[in-house]
Amino acid sequence: MKWLITGADGMVAHDLCDALAERGETFVALSRADLDICDARVGYRIIRDARPDVIVNCAAYTKVDAAEENESVANAVNGSAVEFLAQHADSVEALLVQLSTDFVFDGAAREPYEVNAATAPLSAYGRSKLLGEVAAAHARRSVILRTSWLFGSYGPNFVEAIRNQIRKGTNPLRVVNDQRGRPTYTPHLAAAIVRVVTSGATGVVHYADAPECTWFDFAREIAAQLGANVEVKPVATDEFPRPARRPAYSVLSTERYERVTGVAPASWQEGLREYLTTSDTRRSLPRP
Ligand SMILES: NC(=O)c1ccc[n+]([C@@H]2O[C@H](COP(=O)([O-])OP(=O)(O)OC[C@H]3O[C@@H](n4cnc5c(N)ncnc54)[C@H](OP(=O)(O)O)[C@@H]3O)[C@@H](O)[C@H]2O)c1
Repeated sequence: MKWLITGADGMVAHDLCDALAERGETFVALSRADLDICDARVGYRIIRDARPDVIVNCAAYTKVDAAEENESVANAVNGSAVEFLAQHADSVEALLVQLSTDFVFDGAAREPYEVNAATAPLSAYGRSKLLGEVAAAHARRSVILRTSWLFGSYGPNFVEAIRNQIRKGTNPLRVVNDQRGRPTYTPHLAAAIVRVVTSGATGVVHYADAPECTWFDFAREIAAQLGANVEVKPVATDEFPRPARRPAYSVLSTERYERVTGVAPASWQEGLREYLTTSDTRRSLPRP
């Protein structure tokens, strides 16, 4: 099986390439400099020449707050470009895997979102990612893989934000306790992508690590694993006004993932342990 990965300089793409290299899979990793997914002509030529069996679209406009003022750019990258990728995938009979987000939901639910739950994004970013889901669903074969609260060695993330505050001596740490979700370690997500693709499943699949928690819970665990002597104080979202609204509750149900792969989601606490012991080393390694 031959894989083609877009957005190869991003956080998830790095870990996916590592996972594919470890399995000895054949893959082509294309950074934005190699392929701007908004360029339909170049995309068609590259994909026609590479003839992949699977295209995993890791390219995205991911600046959640900036998207409020740049919705047309977010829509172009996260929406229109996915229409092109769906056409290119069909032209070589490839499976298209489109990564998506818990931000397609409004957070009004009180139980985990199933794959067929109604979407109602609160932000420009969420709306643009929903456009991408609709576009991907037009491909003859596609997986729309929603995930949440990512942290990994190859991108800025919440763990680093907390670690930096601790290093600066901030005490107490004030962290929101009224948003619930499922943190996900990107190497766990990469393994899940490989499992879903090899399972042959198509359609919407959710993958997130277990268990659910709030950002406050997550921050407390980070401080504990770092052995930091710092107080973590729960605060309300209102205390940190940001341009984009976030869903208060965005817990994804991974029931379908578990059913199609036969594997339970990994633990984010375990992922955090690995991250804290290996992130500096992993970042400095060249991509295979
Ligand atoms: N991070 C999270 O917490 C989270 C949560 C749920 C879902 N997701 C989804 O997971 C996926 C991967 O996210 P990530 O965190 O790995 O994002 P990331 O680190 O921001 O990577 C995205 C990559 O896409 C590239 N890109 C942007 N526009 C492009 C274009 N027109 N053509 C080609 N490449 C382009 C970016 O390059 P530049 O840096 O040059 O712009 C970047 O290298 C995305 O679909 C995201 O929506 C993320």
